[in-house]
Amino acid sequence: MKRKVLIVNGPNLNFLGREEMRIYGKESLADLTAIIYQWLVEQGWAGRFFQNNSEGEIINFIQANSEWADGIVINPAAYSHTSIAIYDCLKSISIPAVEVHLSDIYHREEFRRSSITGLACKKVIAGIGVQGYIEALEALKTILNEK
Ligand code: DQA
Repeated sequence: MKRKVLIVNGPNLNFLGREEMRIYGKESLADLTAIIYQWLVEQGWAGRFFQNNSEGEIINFIQANSEWADGIVINPAAYSHTSIAIYDCLKSISIPAVEVHLSDIYHREEFRRSSITGLACKKVIAGIGVQGYIEALEALKTILNEK
């Protein structure tokens, strides 16, 4: 079935691919978008992509697009560890979200080990780089097919 999905990336992920960001892999945000886009085309799915460095803008985008979409793949980046506002936003909409992290947040600094926003998601995938976004989409596909 043709599904519609939001792909949301949080703060600093516009800098992916830079030398200083190597912990997240060598792909840029444009590379990541192209990889996801190819998967969407193969599936016959539609996607809306969004990256923003501001918590409020991420919430505005999700609120404005949640009626259109069947599900969300989100990497809230550092907001994962702090944002009750994004948690509340994900809880206040009726579509499922899957959270993804490029790095293994469970084996980095202490402050990254828990994800507040992840508690509002059906699943959290971490530590497998850009492939995590594809796994998140596959997880979303399973969730939507079970509905
Ligand atoms: C991240 C992990 C976060 O802790 C960090 O703040 C990021 C990226 C990841 O994809 O691994 O910006 O979400």
